[in-house]
Amino acid sequence: MRGLILAAGLGTRFRSKRPKVVHRLLGKPMVWYAFMTLRQAGVEEIGVVVSHMAEEVKRVLGEEVIYFHQDNPKGGTGDAVLSALDFWKDYKGYLLILNGDTPLVMAETIRNLQRFIHMVEKYEGVKLSGVVLTAHLSDPTGYGRVVKEEGTDRVVRIVEEREATPEEKTIREVNAGLYVFYAPHLLEVLKDVKPSERTGEVYITEAVSLMSSRGMEVRTFMATDPTEALGVNTRWDLSIAENVLRLRLIRFWSERGVTFHLPETVWIEPDVTFGEEVEVEPDVTLKGRTRVGKGAVIGRGSYIEDSEIGEEVRVLPYSVVIGAKVGRGATVGPFSHIREETVLEELSEVGAFVEVKRSKIGRKVKAKHLAYIGDAEVGEGVNVGAGAVTANYDGRKKHRTVIGRGAFVGSNSLLVAPVKIGEDSYVAGGSVITKDVPDGALAVERAELRILEGKGRKKLRN
Ligand code: UD1
Ligand code: CA
Repeated sequence: MRGLILAAGLGTRFRSKRPKVVHRLLGKPMVWYAFMTLRQAGVEEIGVVVSHMAEEVKRVLGEEVIYFHQDNPKGGTGDAVLSALDFWKDYKGYLLILNGDTPLVMAETIRNLQRFIHMVEKYEGVKLSGVVLTAHLSDPTGYGRVVKEEGTDRVVRIVEEREATPEEKTIREVNAGLYVFYAPHLLEVLKDVKPSERTGEVYITEAVSLMSSRGMEVRTFMATDPTEALGVNTRWDLSIAENVLRLRLIRFWSERGVTFHLPETVWIEPDVTFGEEVEVEPDVTLKGRTRVGKGAVIGRGSYIEDSEIGEEVRVLPYSVVIGAKVGRGATVGPFSHIREETVLEELSEVGAFVEVKRSKIGRKVKAKHLAYIGDAEVGEGVNVGAGAVTANYDGRKKHRTVIGRGAFVGSNSLLVAPVKIGEDSYVAGGSVITKDVPDGALAVERAELRILEGKGRKKLRN
């Protein structure tokens, strides 16, 4: 089976300068969902019809599909299919056509639909010319209504909302925007489809009506779930579709051993993965290629993107982790900011108001309060005191700080990079370190403390 995605429409109702189908749902462009659904359903050859700002769509789908250009993006869905004529005119099999603004169709439904075609052929001896995916909606407003031969699944015609009679408008079975046509039969009828008198567009749905009037058999196939029919025409439709996708993902993972507390407040994206026994607290955002290991807890309000969270890690509330790797059993937060290219090794502890960037934090390191560690390598078991800062930037370049295993970096010390703090060395609180500290040394840099008896009270009374 070949698949054709229609993505050339202007999306006027969406009110965007960019093509509607590149707008994102859970971080992925709308048309990516249509593409992935076809891929997962085993459709190998995929064509995509594009028009205005085609480059944006091409950037999303790359080289994996074949592009066809629709000259008139107001030509209608039938005109879009005709624009890709080279893709299917010599094809002697079934062509699947899917609206690019229909991101909720499931691959499983397409596989079932394929089976349905085989079954009808095998057991009824009927070669179907077309199958239309449909759903029963409590509010069918805006969708094409499917008119069937009384008491059968045979489609007589599909009538658009604008053109429907009041009686037809009461039909609640709608066209979900996915069709499978036997290509030679589609070729026979599509060239004869006349543009709508009302809109001037050539509708793909008219091919269905024409097939039926010529005695070719078109049947409906019911979507597994009515949400699959949702077409995204407006930004509000996008919000609703995004929410459905989000809940589907959460449900998928909860069936695989993840607990989501207040799932309605959790954001997760399609590439996020989880091990078993993970707990996700409310208001959590998990984005990109984040992987959460077995037994981890993601605390309330945390934001994690493109990161690897190891097994048994505890991310305490309101932490931000982006582009980092957190090793097994480590603790992050509350209120930590772990940034790009950071590795927190096993059992390390990074606490409140600690920011770490492009650094390697060794096993069992403790940096529990108010520190900035950037471009650094911190050895095993180091203790970083409250307020310690690596001054990694001299105004022009970034420099590295290396802290040897077992060292103690006192509170409020400033490590001016490039600098090396030796193993088991001790940096006294408040020191500004501008030279390397050898292994085992004590480094103190402080003005002498003076205590002048009685002077304080005198100053206060002045
Ligand atoms: C279409 C169907 C309607 C169905 C609904 C399901 C037609 C005439 N109507 O209506 O029966 O219930 O989808 O969501 O097909 N496109 C092009 N070129 C064009 C016009 C559209 O490529 O000239 C693409 C769009 O980018 C979009 C898809 O086709 O991805 C559907 O077009 P749209 O205008 O949204 O059709 P609907 O009015 O929603
Ligand atoms: Ca639509």
